[in-house]
Amino acid sequence: MTSASTQHRLSLLVDQVGGPAGLREVLRDFYSEMNQDAMIGFFFRGKDTDAIAEKQSEFILKAAGLVTIYTGKNPASAHLGMPPIRMGQFNRRIQILKDLLSKKGLPQDAIDTWIAFEESFRNVVVTRTVQILPP
Ligand code: HEM
Repeated sequence: MTSASTQHRLSLLVDQVGGPAGLREVLRDFYSEMNQDAMIGFFFRGKDTDAIAEKQSEFILKAAGLVTIYTGKNPASAHLGMPPIRMGQFNRRIQILKDLLSKKGLPQDAIDTWIAFEESFRNVVVTRTVQILPP
């Protein structure tokens, strides 16, 4: 459940990015950049990044209160069928997003809202456990 103030900030962000169509475009670029990234690109091998961007777009619109139904997986279950996402990899995603949003000229308050939203999933997305192998 998204709080009323987060929902309000996210709906402003969607406006500032050019509505749902603008949001989708930014997310397509974001996933395309992650896909080509030397550090986290391997997660997306063989995946349809436009389709993931589409779900992510819907996910943000739902959290912004702009659509009523989200048809994708939730962030906790979406990443189960892949290698664990580590802290540095999560940080890399945040950096790519920050750079992209500044390059697109999005106002700082909108960038801050988006980054805070991403950060709120750090604990569900990042796997902190380490496997200790027997000698
Ligand atoms: C470094 C960080 C991340 C990586 C490498 C990553 C990677 C991926 C990949 C590869 C998929 C596709 C899964 C598949 O089709 O089998 C996916 C799906 C998804 N991711 Fe992430 N992700 C990251 C962070 C996040 C964060 C922070 C969120 C939440 C805001 C998120 C939300 C989702 C959701 C909702 C889906 C499912 C979409 C669907 O139902 O198809 N991810 N992610």
